[in-house]
Amino acid sequence: MTVQGSSTTPAPVIRKKITGHVGFSNIPNQVRRKSVKNGFQLTAMVVGESGLGKSTLINTLFNSTICVPRVPLHPAEERPTTVAIENIQADIEEKGIRLRLTVVDTPGFGDFVNNSASWDPILQTIEQRFEAYLAQEHSVRRSKIVDTRVHACIYFIQPTGHSLKQIDIEFMRRLHDKVNLIPVIAKADTMTEDEIADAKALITSDLAFHGIRIFQPPIYDDDDAESIAEAEALARAAPFAVVGAARAVRTPDGRAVRGRAYPWGVVEVDNPAHCDFGLLRAMLVRTHMEALRARTADVLYETWRTQRLLAMGVVQDPSVFEETSPVERMREERLMHEARLAKMEAAMKEVFREKIEIQEKKLKQSEVDLYARHKEMKDAMTKQWNQLKEKQRQLESGSPDARKKTFLS
Ligand code: GTP
Repeated sequence: MTVQGSSTTPAPVIRKKITGHVGFSNIPNQVRRKSVKNGFQLTAMVVGESGLGKSTLINTLFNSTICVPRVPLHPAEERPTTVAIENIQADIEEKGIRLRLTVVDTPGFGDFVNNSASWDPILQTIEQRFEAYLAQEHSVRRSKIVDTRVHACIYFIQPTGHSLKQIDIEFMRRLHDKVNLIPVIAKADTMTEDEIADAKALITSDLAFHGIRIFQPPIYDDDDAESIAEAEALARAAPFAVVGAARAVRTPDGRAVRGRAYPWGVVEVDNPAHCDFGLLRAMLVRTHMEALRARTADVLYETWRTQRLLAMGVVQDPSVFEETSPVERMREERLMHEARLAKMEAAMKEVFREKIEIQEKKLKQSEVDLYARHKEMKDAMTKQWNQLKEKQRQLESGSPDARKKTFLS
């Protein structure tokens, strides 16, 4: 396993090489020959309040230590003021097929009084990745485009059994048209079956009420019965009630399973009768990885791209997403270039304005100092002048003895 830093993405990247069993090599009808040859790329973001089991779930999903659980901050330690963005890259190889997985972790989410500090950096990260992709599309070497867009965002909901909290709604409302949202009920082993069913119903109606669109496995006309049943089962089970446990425990009947042991028994992570972990994993890495990538590219990114280009004055023919004419592409490039120049100019102007402000402050301060010094010197000279005047008066008016004394003083 190798771990190294990189500066190619906005936040530092931790790289790992892993060879555990995940399941993506069993991809059924979603496979494209090119993907198998070149390997897959998946960027998954995890968002949720601290301690909801994000690191544990990622490690359980990919059967490896990808995210190292964080040590909670000491009360005396300084708290961060905004969400941090951490990129962890893992190369997973299975039956000769490679998966380059990037996990975008977002520690600190929900920890602030001002909640926009929670979602703004996340939104910016998603858009920066779109922006980087757009820049690649406009570069000369288009055949070497690397897709670093976020393909899925697993959003962790507290296992309270209540409706969604305000922060859940606000976050998902802002993100649902930028990323494939996959909400999950965290730590489902802390709830009973009935509580999970009630929580799922409450959350589903909340999502519908607020018009939040989560990722729905698509069903195509030429899908076989098995694929349709799979997609429908996934849709019915959402939001998935998940349990994470990277370590193996012994069941009362002696089996070694990944799960959480309680005095009353073991909650098995991979047992579909115990939780929806298996469904989430199947959807993410086996049955719908390609659908997640396709929706990111064809719907979410294209919508963002159209808005982005419209803001720069480029009007696109909506029926032509793939191929743009060379003339149109040059026009887009020119506008992109001009937009970049305008941004640089604005940044330079801002720096210049700040420098002038600092110089003006310094000048004002020197003026005040000079005035104070001038006043001090004037006062000292006036005092000296008055003293000399007094001496002169005494010399002119006093007796010879007094004059002599004054003269010598
Ligand atoms: P931060 O990094 O602080 O944001 O936390 P996190 O969301 O990554 O949580 P983490 O995976 O570090 O887990 C926090 C604690 O919850 C650990 O003690 C885990 O063992 C425990 N935990 C993780 N998943 C589950 C779960 O599904 N059920 C239960 N009961 N505990 C869990």
